[in-house]
Amino acid sequence: MTDTSGQIDHVLNEDRTFPPPAEFTEKAVFSSKSQYDEACKRASEDRDGFWKEEAEKHLHWFEPFNQVCRWDAPNVEWFVGGKTNASYNCLDRHVEAGRGDRTAILWEGEPGDTRCLSYAELRTEVAKCAAALQELGIGTGDVVSVYMPMTPELAIIMLACARIGAVHSVIFAGFSAESIADRNNDAKAKLVVTADGLHRRGKVLPLKETVDEALAKSPTVEKCLVLRRVGQDGVAMQEGRDVWWHDVVDKQSGDLPAKPLDSETTLFILYTSGSTGKPKGIRHTTAGYNLWAMRTFQWVFDHREEDVYWCTADCGWITGHSYIVYGPLSAGATCLMYEGAPNHPAEDRFWDLVEKYKVTTLYTAPTAIRAFIKWGDEHVEKHDLSSLRLLGSVGEGINPEAWMWYHEKIGYENCPIVDTWWQTETGGIMMSPLPGITATKPGSCTTPLPGIVPKIVDEAGKPVQQNNGGMLCIAEPWPGMLRGIWGDEERFVEQYWSTVPGMYLTGDNARQDEDGYYWIMGRIDDVINVSGHRLSTIEVESALVSHEAVCEAAVVGRPDDLKGQAIAAFVTIRDREPDDALRTELRQHVRKQIGALAQPDDLRFAATLPKTRSGKIMRRLLRDVASGREIGGDTSTLEDFSVIAKLSEDE
Ligand code: PRX
Repeated sequence: MTDTSGQIDHVLNEDRTFPPPAEFTEKAVFSSKSQYDEACKRASEDRDGFWKEEAEKHLHWFEPFNQVCRWDAPNVEWFVGGKTNASYNCLDRHVEAGRGDRTAILWEGEPGDTRCLSYAELRTEVAKCAAALQELGIGTGDVVSVYMPMTPELAIIMLACARIGAVHSVIFAGFSAESIADRNNDAKAKLVVTADGLHRRGKVLPLKETVDEALAKSPTVEKCLVLRRVGQDGVAMQEGRDVWWHDVVDKQSGDLPAKPLDSETTLFILYTSGSTGKPKGIRHTTAGYNLWAMRTFQWVFDHREEDVYWCTADCGWITGHSYIVYGPLSAGATCLMYEGAPNHPAEDRFWDLVEKYKVTTLYTAPTAIRAFIKWGDEHVEKHDLSSLRLLGSVGEGINPEAWMWYHEKIGYENCPIVDTWWQTETGGIMMSPLPGITATKPGSCTTPLPGIVPKIVDEAGKPVQQNNGGMLCIAEPWPGMLRGIWGDEERFVEQYWSTVPGMYLTGDNARQDEDGYYWIMGRIDDVINVSGHRLSTIEVESALVSHEAVCEAAVVGRPDDLKGQAIAAFVTIRDREPDDALRTELRQHVRKQIGALAQPDDLRFAATLPKTRSGKIMRRLLRDVASGREIGGDTSTLEDFSVIAKLSEDE
């Protein structure tokens, strides 16, 4: 059965449709609906011709490609035989075209320190860092794990890897030592790049300590490169393994050229949760991903020379990869990058930044928008946000209430909102309104971008009727699509390509309305979306059962006003009292195993877990219980599901 519990069930009517503001159409990449329709038509009728032109025009080629797309589902290669380099596309070509003085990164740290890097300066820093990587023994194909604060050096290390063909694997700096070690071992990382610490809500988090704990269990890692960010005293540096960034990077000359790389050279892997316990390393390659990130950035954000663009994501997630680093920098954009929390030192920090840097384009997540609503309009009203001309949303469906608030309070009712649907696997935005062209409906990601062919099918793989929910698949290849799961070809085929043969299975449910607009209705698998971050319920269950007091655990998502979904865990225990102390211990245990983002919001003790006759945990029932009832004051009460389970068995 497909699960439609996440369905956004809003009645659509004319007055909830927002027409595009006319002034957008003058300068946009697609300046009219007919141009966009034409691009979609061309991409579908002559896929190779369309992408050949796009790639030739928008990427730099050291050597031209001789075949546009080699497609034999699920295997795909784009721009076969060509040689390019993503770091070159992001930096050198702008410098060589005389745009080296243009600001690439405007950065602000949480304590208020600032930096500004032009494209020429960024190129020098990247080249120095790439030379340092080589000195540390890193070459093409080697995996570099990156566990860093949101400083310019995070973008620099990513681009430095790209410059020499090393594979970056960025790990969000909120993950635990266990999670870092798992990722290091799965990827066989040779180097870990980190910092002494990071600033978060006025505190310093000791990143290097966490990395040290991970390195004790990461036998493939030979070296650790450490940035001094917070000036923490007494950072333990292991002789022969650990080196300071300023000792090895600063002395380099900064003229290391970008290496011409085959189009299909792995650019990065990024771990994300799937429907099973172990996160998977999604693999993206150089040319196709680079082109997709760049063009989708230009199309969706209607990028213009004078823009100051701000994506509030962290580079630890795909949004940061595609829309802080590769997309905007390839397009020569000026990007704001911010290190810290949205509520430090006060709840107006984002709006302070928008006003101070005159941000024109803001790309953020519904979970952040809901937090701002909760914190109160006074924080927004203190600031002049009139520089904004375009707003974006990503990570989960934006509920119409949040959409309206974003539209009114942040966009002053005249900024289009682009609700962008995509995934780690898709590399870049797949469906989104185009500003100036698409009339928007709050809660819908509207229509696909050129070259994207979505299909909504039932379990037999047959297309569903209009307005009926079904599994969202993508029928044709696109340049930014994932190329595989690092080291696990079998899982790649099974997870994405075996349910509906020949089509990419997104894992989302969707429906298409009478205007052809798409509405994402939640996941079909055991993946939950907490504050826009993907987590597998099984991953959290595995963490729980690794605690000695836990016999069995079942984890489900329940609706949450701020996070979208919150994590509810039901556990059966042995040899311990089901009290608050154990509850705290188990939540801490998950935090230690995976990271703070996976810590259950509710944790209930159960005498038994409700199961079907075949022994499957009845998650639907637990979801109902988790969403419908408050946790009682008496924490020692054990939930007794045996009756319900029995009843269901008798049905
Ligand atoms: O369920 C969809 C949801 O987030 C999933 C992808 O998560 P991740 O790979 O972490 O990438 C997040 C950033 C792209 C999707 O399968 N999702 C993402 N954006 C939207 C969304 N659901 C509804 N509307 C969106 N705009």
